[in-house]
Amino acid sequence: MARTRHLTDLDRLVLALSDAFDLVGVDRLGHCRRVAAMAVAVAEELCWHKATIRMLMHAALLHDCGVSTTGEHHDLMGDLSWNVANEHSVRGAECLKRIPELAHLAAIVAEHHTPWGSMGDRLPEDEALIANLIHLVDRIDAKRNHCGVMGRNIVSILTRHTGFFSPELLAAADQVTRCEAFWFFQEEPVLTERLTSFIWRWKPIPLDLPAVLRVAEVVGAIIDRKSTYTEHHSLGVARVAGLLARWSDLAPDTCTGIEIAAYLHDIGKLRIPDQLLDKQGTLDPIERMRMARHAFDTRAILTRAFGEGGIADWAGFHHECLSGNGYPFHLEAEFLSLETRIVAVADVFQALAQQRPYRAPLTIAEIGALMDGMVFAGRLDHDVVELCKAHGEECWTAATQGDN
Ligand SMILES: [Fe+2]
Ligand SMILES: [Fe+2]
Ligand SMILES: [Fe+2]
Repeated sequence: MARTRHLTDLDRLVLALSDAFDLVGVDRLGHCRRVAAMAVAVAEELCWHKATIRMLMHAALLHDCGVSTTGEHHDLMGDLSWNVANEHSVRGAECLKRIPELAHLAAIVAEHHTPWGSMGDRLPEDEALIANLIHLVDRIDAKRNHCGVMGRNIVSILTRHTGFFSPELLAAADQVTRCEAFWFFQEEPVLTERLTSFIWRWKPIPLDLPAVLRVAEVVGAIIDRKSTYTEHHSLGVARVAGLLARWSDLAPDTCTGIEIAAYLHDIGKLRIPDQLLDKQGTLDPIERMRMARHAFDTRAILTRAFGEGGIADWAGFHHECLSGNGYPFHLEAEFLSLETRIVAVADVFQALAQQRPYRAPLTIAEIGALMDGMVFAGRLDHDVVELCKAHGEECWTAATQGDN
């Protein structure tokens, strides 16, 4: 990989991550994006300061980062019982606290379902308004999805929840939702164009490789929470891939890039319904297509975050095979870089070393024998597999040690 001091910038990364968190909606995509666009429209009506609007947009795009399962997403998008929303808010805040560039949003996300009347002095006033505005437009989106209510009706319904929303925010929302364009702006492709036009107004906050690695660690944990069967999978793949990269004498920046790709290689799995991800037994053709598209979605999201090639390819090609029989692109060996092959081997190694509900973890010898078969079948790279086998103990420990 060419040495890049700055891999991406914060606005671009947040926008791409919101795409990933929106995938949890499966067929009802775009929730976080619409919430962000609606929130900014209300904030502009109230003439909020530019810096406050940026904070609002980031918090709105990431407000549901604590939601990994389609079941929880479905519950939150329904007619919410106000008390069930707390868990994902706290979980999301814990994730953001671990990212220095986003930690200032944690308290806002923690309170984004707190009724205005209970806000007290939990947050400074500007943050309390941001949290409550996200709450308000989140419910507008849920109401629209749930029962198709639009326009002024939606605000009058929400006004009946006495004490839930700031009167100032309700009045501004009432004003902006009268405008037909407010609703049309929430449809693609204008939604993305609008959000992108907001971030062009701001001076970029560059992110280097170590900063992106910290974000990738947190996002990897969000992906791993999708299913208890694959807990710590992304973490284990990243650790094994990082070791294989170092043993291959790759440049330090490339090793970090490989770790980032490994943490994020299954980000597209956020779109797979819970029941399908946990399904044991054979999949029907539609289910197989749904599964196969996770690598495609991974590459699309990481291309938006980091640009074409590099990390996006290393992660997005992890199910390609040297024989050309992999998925979803059916690429042949000449298109599969060493970095891609490392991520693919680490992915297989971790999956085999991990306890699954239908089998015990495999031993190092069993994994070695199975991977030899995959080399023979043209699925995995011979040299990378040999490296893995030569350091079997270290790979096994890295793949299985979990968060500790
Ligand atoms: Fe939400
Ligand atoms: Fe995968
Ligand atoms: Fe994987």
